[in-house]
Amino acid sequence: MSGAYLSALAVRRTNRTITPKSSIPDEKLEAIVKACVLHSPTPFNIQSSRAVLVTGAANARLWKLVADSLETAFEGDMRTTALARVAAYSAGYGSVLFFEDQKVIDEITEKMPFFTKHFPVWSTNATGMLQHAVWTAFSLEGLGASLQHNGAYSDELVAEILKTFSLPSTWTSTAIMPFGDPAAPPTEKDFGAIEDRVKIFKA
Ligand SMILES: Cc1cc2nc3c(=O)[nH]c(=O)nc-3n(C[C@H](O)[C@H](O)[C@H](O)COP(=O)(O)O)c2cc1C
Repeated sequence: MSGAYLSALAVRRTNRTITPKSSIPDEKLEAIVKACVLHSPTPFNIQSSRAVLVTGAANARLWKLVADSLETAFEGDMRTTALARVAAYSAGYGSVLFFEDQKVIDEITEKMPFFTKHFPVWSTNATGMLQHAVWTAFSLEGLGASLQHNGAYSDELVAEILKTFSLPSTWTSTAIMPFGDPAAPPTEKDFGAIEDRVKIFKA
């Protein structure tokens, strides 16, 4: 039963080399993002995770904000490299922005103060599960996608993104996933010995 799922896990890869095309229609992209948000778990089912799908001109608008922010944040070679990467994401088909609604986290923390120090960690876990679900589904559809954290670099950039797309100010950015039909396959990936990473005890 789990075979298809395990194969899907292996299909998901980082691919930063993307084109302005999508082999699947917008309706399917939207359905994937909605299904992943609906079915991804959250602590105590607080449903704190948020996702925003941007394509076309909206995608270009997003990455222009990131580029403007990096222009001032970085200098020299670092700036050149960062801006080249951002230009490649801007030239993709679209992006999924991931957030956690801090208002929801604050409310549950107030109700359950015993877990105060855990909720930020669990919130990060929850958004990671959602990101992985979307990333895997996109990869299964043949799209190239990657996980980027430019959006988390500065509070000012996140504020600009929220303002530009009229999103609630309580949403905290956790990652951006640029995607599009791949222009090249993913690069080779090294795997360390699995025995060092998984321990099994039977008695
Ligand atoms: C939590 C997390 C943060 C990551 N952040 C970035 C990032 O900011 N930029 C980037 O290009 N890749 C990022 N990656 C992608 C990793 O570099 C990539 O997943 C890893 O090298 C393994 O390759 P794979 O995704 O093809 O399996 C991130 C991955 C994870 C899980």
